[in-house]
Amino acid sequence: MEPIRSLASFPPGGVALVLGAGGIGSALVRRLRDVGRFDRIVVGCRSPDKARPLASHEPGRAKVLVETADLLDAGSLQSLARTIGSMHRPLRLAICATGLLHQGADLRPERRLEDVTRENLEMMFAVNAIGPLLAARYLVPVLPRLERSVFAAISARVGSIGDNRLGGWYGYRGSKAALNQFLRCTALELRRRAPGAIVAALHPGTVATPLSKPFQAGVPADRLFAPEYSATRLLEVIDGLSPQDSGGFFAWDGGSIPW
Ligand SMILES: NC(=O)c1ccc[n+]([C@@H]2O[C@H](COP(=O)([O-])OP(=O)(O)OC[C@H]3O[C@@H](n4cnc5c(N)ncnc54)[C@H](OP(=O)(O)O)[C@@H]3O)[C@@H](O)[C@H]2O)c1
Repeated sequence: MEPIRSLASFPPGGVALVLGAGGIGSALVRRLRDVGRFDRIVVGCRSPDKARPLASHEPGRAKVLVETADLLDAGSLQSLARTIGSMHRPLRLAICATGLLHQGADLRPERRLEDVTRENLEMMFAVNAIGPLLAARYLVPVLPRLERSVFAAISARVGSIGDNRLGGWYGYRGSKAALNQFLRCTALELRRRAPGAIVAALHPGTVATPLSKPFQAGVPADRLFAPEYSATRLLEVIDGLSPQDSGGFFAWDGGSIPW
């Protein structure tokens, strides 16, 4: 296991939020708990019972709380923001680690135009782009105005238009490109509203999670990251972000990704 850096770029204490308790989200929560920079870690997810094992309250360590949050239900995001607001601690870090690439037999990444359907496109955009933007809408008011804070969402390199050489995956690529644009707009708005806030789109690498499972066969073993490794690298990238980086798109190794 990689040593964990301290996240010393954040003032100590306060709240860190991870939306989504999937492979990468759960690993982020465990790493944040180990670092101990924040005194509350909130996990927002659709099925709190499934994520309950992440909850903890050990003396001397960050308290981990699991709350309900469904990206398809704006009311749940609003009440999550209210819950965080009532903690009387600043929200210093929010990471949206949710995402959708496939679901059941009917929602699969499209290989050609004939695979494209309105229903699947709408679902991809709802989860991958609109949901994180609504999360920003409700969470931004809880971020401190002047002190350093980060709102990051896990995007994907395949959402890069400049880097698209293979085509296909219309819904996933298009919704991640929309997410990137939404994050960029948010970053520009926050320059005025909360100059301490940094907004970033992050690519986690190819990570062994349920999302990538059907597509892992062709990935060389040394390019398929364990969730813990990706989470550690993403937290390092977040720790190194400066206000000038706000609105950018960064990979797990800190490299900038073209739009
Ligand atoms: N794994 C990779 O190789 C890879 C590569 C590039 C980018 N990414 C991105 O990394 C992020 C995390 O993915 P992952 O690999 O950790 O996949 P994962 O294990 O499948 O996790 C995805 C999470 O998104 C949540 N989610 C889906 N729809 C939601 C909704 N309506 N409301 C709230 N949560 C919802 C899922 O919740 P449930 O647990 O309730 O289903 C799950 O926790 C995604 O944005 C993905 O696009 C992953």
